[in-house]
Amino acid sequence: MNKGRFIVFEGIDGSGKGTQIDLLVSEMKKRGRQVYQTAEPTSSATGGLIRDALGGLQKRDAYELSALFLTDRIFHNVNEVNGIKQFLEKGTDVVCDRYYYSSFAYQGIDADLKWVMELNLGCQEILRPDLCIFLDADADACDERIENNRFEREIYENLSAQKKIRKRFLEVFEMLKDRENIQIINGTGKIDQVAKEVLAVYDSVFGGKDR
Ligand code: TYD
Repeated sequence: MNKGRFIVFEGIDGSGKGTQIDLLVSEMKKRGRQVYQTAEPTSSATGGLIRDALGGLQKRDAYELSALFLTDRIFHNVNEVNGIKQFLEKGTDVVCDRYYYSSFAYQGIDADLKWVMELNLGCQEILRPDLCIFLDADADACDERIENNRFEREIYENLSAQKKIRKRFLEVFEMLKDRENIQIINGTGKIDQVAKEVLAVYDSVFGGKDR
């Protein structure tokens, strides 16, 4: 394990990751942990290109998008200002909204999944999380949340794509289960209930050593 704890949240769009991340991070801080909260895509120059593509301003092929997310992820790990690596090395925990599992589930549908996985898992500069929490929610429920909360929809934010992406997430987790710590939580309950389950997983993985 890294010196700091590296925790990633994943889920389809509208699965409530943002809320649960905020709750876990504030609980960790209350327990005295130093936590750096971050997300992908980042606000790097590459992240900007990705946002343009997600918003439909610039059409990009799935292979191009995979490579852009990969570049952004390497930057996210190694950059000297706020790279994940340096936080973990100095013992700060990192909680990240999306990581390479999203590339597998989203780009791995239109681009060759094996290729996307090799690029990410084979890159030494891309650190492996200590824990990935997947907030599982059915695509119909998430679509309703997107409808109520978003002004405009991004390219993947449609029901048929989200159904495929959820399925792909679950397939990928099955493929990775021997080498990664991935915990699937039902994200459809009340916010407090889901938060309790997230915390239970966190404590079971890190041994409740915070207190
Ligand atoms: P999201 O977490 O929904 O951010 P926001 O709420 O700010 O829009 O992420 C943006 C989109 O990026 C989401 O639809 C998933 C997509 N994505 C990929 O397709 N591949 C990736 O590797 C990552 C990290 C994200």
